[in-house]
Order: sequence, then structure tokens, then C-alpha cells
Amino acid sequence: MERTLIILKPDCVSRRLVGRIIRRFEDKGLTIAGMKLMRISRELAERHYAGHAGKPFYAGLIDYITSGPVVVMVLAGPGAIAVCRKLMGATFGPQAEPGTIRGDFGLSRTFNLVHGSDGPESAAAEIALYFGPGELMDVPMPDAAWINRPDEA
Ligand code: RTP
Ligand code: MG
Repeated sequence: MERTLIILKPDCVSRRLVGRIIRRFEDKGLTIAGMKLMRISRELAERHYAGHAGKPFYAGLIDYITSGPVVVMVLAGPGAIAVCRKLMGATFGPQAEPGTIRGDFGLSRTFNLVHGSDGPESAAAEIALYFGPGELMDVPMPDAAWINRPDEA
């Protein structure tokens, strides 16, 4: 089953939105393969966002993601990477569609509540940054056959 890395960013945790945001992902049918509350160090943040180094918003992004506790999760399900990006919505709050997490909960360009891996390579790399293999598990879903018909292409 496809896996993706999701981070509930410091604004999400501080605004006590963790339960409501996780519910969005669970309601869709994704399962939690790993989860922890942690504070991201500057070194880890710089590794995670290495692709953005040098961009005008980079320093502010590192300050933001290290500013308080975050919830880091691995979510699993068919097409989990793209499904999570759709549930999150566009990067900037003002542009994010209503009905998406970013569209419903914020107006900031930087403080946008949630991170999600943007492709299979980044998902694998990001999951390895935050979790050891022994920390992840496949959670059986009794209603899986209803949520994702096994013989669907
Ligand atoms: P993420 O990586 O956090 O899931 O977000 P994303 O793919 O939608 O957006 P990305 O381009 O990767 O940007 C990473 C994060 O940097 C902050 N940002 N601020 N003020 C700005 O112009 C600006 N641009 C980006 C956001 O927190 C964004 O999620
Ligand atoms: Mg990104």
C-alpha cells in the first residue's frame, strides 16, 4: 500500500486542530502507519527542506517548522500521496479551495497547517528521515474491501 509522510505543522498543533485534521485523512479511508509528536531540529528541517535552500522563503520556513511541536505521521492507502495532497489543498491559504484543509483552516501563505510528500521519491526519503522501519506498521482495516474494491484497476 502506498505510504506518504504528513506533518501537522506547529500552527496546527498550537491551534489544537490535530484531531480535526487527522479526522479528514481517516474519513477518506487512509490508515495511520506511524505517528509521533516531536520537535523538529534545525538540522532535520534543513535536510527535509533541502530542495528549498536559497529560496526567499527558506529561512522563514525553517524558523516556522522548528518553532514548536509537530505531529509526524505516515499515512497509507491507495494513491495515498496524491490523495493527501488533494485533501490538503493548494499551498497558500488564500488560494486553497474550500473543503480542503488549507482552504478551510487558514489564510497564511507560510503557516499552512500541514505538509505532505509530493511524489514517490520524496515520500520514501521523507519517511526515512522521521521513522525507522520498526516504527511503522500496516493496520488491518475491516472495511477495506468497501473503501477500495480489491479488483479495481
Ligand atoms: P509542503 O512541502 O509543506 O507540503 O508544502 P507545498 O509542497 O504545498 O509547498 P512548497 O512549495 O514545498 O513549500 C514548502 C512550504 O514553505 C512555505 N512557503 N512559504 N511565503 C512564501 O512565499 C512561501 N512559499 C512556501 C509553506 O509553509 C510551504 O508549505
Ligand atoms: Mg513541498
